[in-house]
Amino acid sequence: MEMEPLRDGHGRRIGDLRVSVTDRCNFRCQYCMPAEGLPWLERAEILTFEEIARLVGLFAAMGVRDVRLTGGEPLVRRDFPTLAGMLASLEGVRELSVTTNGFLLKRDAERLVAAGIDRFNVSVDSLQRDRFYQLTRRDALAAVLEGLEVLSAFPEAHPIKINAVAMRGFTEQEVLPFAALARSTPYEVRFIEFMPLDADRAWSTSQVLTGEEIRAAIDAVHPLEPEPREPSATARVYRFADGQGRIGFINPVSEPFCADCNRVRLTADGRLRTCLFSLHETDLRGPLRDGADDSELERIIRDAVWRKELKHHVGEPGFIQPTRSMSAIGG
Ligand code: 5AD
Ligand code: SF4
Repeated sequence: MEMEPLRDGHGRRIGDLRVSVTDRCNFRCQYCMPAEGLPWLERAEILTFEEIARLVGLFAAMGVRDVRLTGGEPLVRRDFPTLAGMLASLEGVRELSVTTNGFLLKRDAERLVAAGIDRFNVSVDSLQRDRFYQLTRRDALAAVLEGLEVLSAFPEAHPIKINAVAMRGFTEQEVLPFAALARSTPYEVRFIEFMPLDADRAWSTSQVLTGEEIRAAIDAVHPLEPEPREPSATARVYRFADGQGRIGFINPVSEPFCADCNRVRLTADGRLRTCLFSLHETDLRGPLRDGADDSELERIIRDAVWRKELKHHVGEPGFIQPTRSMSAIGG
């Protein structure tokens, strides 16, 4: 059943939902988690597959077309491909995608593609084994690259995107190797500016290597030409002028794209977040478990979405980092 589209109070139409299916992760990336991990949610606190499917179905009925599954690391959730299949069959969901660290792709790629996942974003921050280990605190580059290879055998999964978080003092050395990867494989590499969502709270503006700096460094060696951009697309994508591949830049810190933001997020414990940097969230799990009907849930969702933040204040004086870090929000 199609309802009135979901809109916020600033006139933005909401068409994209990010669903975190677990707060757990098998990596400990510096820009996200502390080395010792975080206190995980109890099993009972996490939405069941049926609860997730009910909520996603409601969002889809309100015009959400793109659903991205995240974590933590989504593939560590038991029977994750089963959930993917349940969501792929919901009416109204047009694109179902996953953001993963790739470690378990070798095991799961085939089942996920068969379940109906259309797009994969795989996080890779370094192409050198020791530096990958330093950043993720796991010696896992080989496993991730193998997973990517298994995935790339499925034409339905293309184009495959590789996300690299760009940190000053680390990523400079990775820029040209990633450009070479983008030029020699079908993978589209995208650099994401480091955001203040790290559990260690070590972020500062001086640690952000901006997309423009990386673009200029690549352009000096391999000239780039901009591709047209959809308004709600977060990445600025360029093609190599000689026709060999594409590369993208997600610049939330240096060039915020809040004005065109069409996204909201559902955490693994059933809280609706209308911005990555929200200081307030809306509980959907409570009403869901108390027996709220669809119209009651719809009212709660529309109310929360209406109050979606105009923009983030990263880098401004007085910015307050949210209590939840990235793995507990869902990227
Ligand atoms: N800043 C930018 N990106 C981040 N990610 C995780 N933490 C941060 C951060 N502090 C990225 C991951 C992954 C996606 C879920 O978010 O690398 O690509
Ligand atoms: Fe895990 Fe992703 Fe956080 Fe790395 S960024 S620790 S892979 S949730």
